[in-house]
Amino acid sequence: MVSMLSILEKISQDKITNQSDSSQVKLFLVRIIETPSIHALFLNTISLMEHIGSRKILLTQSNEHTTEFILRHASEEARHALFFKKKIEYILPNLNLGYSNHELLAGLSAKIYFQKLDATVRKSIRQMNLSHSNRTYLNYLYTTTAIEIRATYLYKIYNEVLIQRNFGFHLNGLLAEEEGHLAEMESEIQRLDSESKVRLDQLLQQEEKLFRKLWQKWKDACDLVSKP
Ligand SMILES: [Fe+2]
Ligand SMILES: [Fe+2]
Repeated sequence: MVSMLSILEKISQDKITNQSDSSQVKLFLVRIIETPSIHALFLNTISLMEHIGSRKILLTQSNEHTTEFILRHASEEARHALFFKKKIEYILPNLNLGYSNHELLAGLSAKIYFQKLDATVRKSIRQMNLSHSNRTYLNYLYTTTAIEIRATYLYKIYNEVLIQRNFGFHLNGLLAEEEGHLAEMESEIQRLDSESKVRLDQLLQQEEKLFRKLWQKWKDACDLVSKP
């Protein structure tokens, strides 16, 4: 069997080959943090995405096969959601935001990104001969892996910006946890799917298209909020 390119290797390879993309991302993140009202909405949006991740794990993976990894993953994603929500206090105190669309940066698009990625994975594994529990498990593994590769890439750049600007918080611990999740999910994907390398490459290309749409919506939302 062709061994799957390590997910973590893939992240660093992409980072090197897409230097211009990374500088664009950095410029945009700098723009976000320079406007406190936008930064607060952005943090709340990432909090929502972590929360959706945690909720998805608990909704789909609570069964007789629930392992220590599943419980740890769900609880760490819930903690990440809380982490980002609490950091809003550093930017604009006493906002007490919920997750309504007007309290998020292009919130509807962020939710759609998640749903469409989930549907894309479901379609990709539809023809595989799997039990119901292995199907939902593999769906969770691929969807979460694609999102966490994206999150790790973005968080690394966001972290650099936060540290350079002395923001008073950083993502070092959170990044270490995300990388741990990726390594564990990678070995489970390889165990369950002999076509994992090809499938993951295809899914990551589809995720890229979905994320570019979300990215554009974030930019549009920033323009709207920045307007006097
Ligand atoms: Fe997370
Ligand atoms: Fe994670």
